[in-house]
Amino acid sequence: MKKIAILTRDCAGVNAAIRSIVRTAYEFKLEVLGVLREYNGLIDNQFIILNRRSVSGIINIGGTILKTARSKRFFIESEQKKAVQNIKDNNIDGLIVIGGDGSMRGAHVLATKYNIPVVGIPATIDNDVSGVDLTIGADTAVNVALDALDKIRDTATSLERIFVVEVMGRECGYIALNVALAGGCEEVLIPEKDFDIDTMCEEIKTGSSQGKESWIIIVAEGKAKGHDIANIITDKTNLETRVVVLGHIQRGGHPTSVDRVMAARLGNYAVNVLRDGLSDHCVSLKDGRLVTIPLDVAVQPKKIDIDTYYKLIKILT
Ligand code: F6P
Repeated sequence: MKKIAILTRDCAGVNAAIRSIVRTAYEFKLEVLGVLREYNGLIDNQFIILNRRSVSGIINIGGTILKTARSKRFFIESEQKKAVQNIKDNNIDGLIVIGGDGSMRGAHVLATKYNIPVVGIPATIDNDVSGVDLTIGADTAVNVALDALDKIRDTATSLERIFVVEVMGRECGYIALNVALAGGCEEVLIPEKDFDIDTMCEEIKTGSSQGKESWIIIVAEGKAKGHDIANIITDKTNLETRVVVLGHIQRGGHPTSVDRVMAARLGNYAVNVLRDGLSDHCVSLKDGRLVTIPLDVAVQPKKIDIDTYYKLIKILT
């Protein structure tokens, strides 16, 4: 193996992973190319040379220095073939894909359909890669959202108000559950669980009549719109509500130490297993140990232990 390439999505910790890959590759005298704009760059032959120097000063920076895209084109077979031709024309012997379940799906296609050696590094704020305890970026996202929530609580308590805070997660309630538990919130609505809004409004009315002053309700974007939930609460309880949609601030920011250390370890490990001939797997940490997981497992829908979170939130608020 002489030359590898890196392709990325964006979240905090991705740059730290790129740095780890490039500097590990240098130890093995491997050349490294960065693919610009995720799978679109692979299709359009957009590569840059990465060396030890080009990855200095990025360990603490969010996003990805390689830019990214949500490639719809890579679903089309003729576009996939262009990507594969570019991999061959650039003499790339192996590819490391850093991203979430969509990126892992693309990696699985390259490995299984076109026999390209590919190793994935799970990185997404959603933490929705199956078989993987924690993806790069998820810890930062929860901490960014929690920081915002702590500030919202100051006003919620002072003004005795109900706040509905919408967090990211179209299909996965990971951020919502963790922010709700770590932020001491009263309710959390996530895509994976049915929710009875009438019961919640009754509880708010009862609590209010007994002197409870404020509520913070977390809504994952994939479950409902924060504004819709707030309107229903106001209609049914006659209490004032405010809404905060945290949006993309959750995907940016300086990576936490958890994300940086994980990125350093997984980047290094990915180069090692790719050199050893592994393909169609992603790398991860399980109980602190480095492991590999088949990509066909990683792309399955992830199940999280919802009940434990809900029980604790109910007991602790
Ligand atoms: O998958 C990561 C994520 O941030 C989700 O939580 C969110 O639903 C989605 O991406 C937003 O996508 P986009 O940046 O394309 O609007």
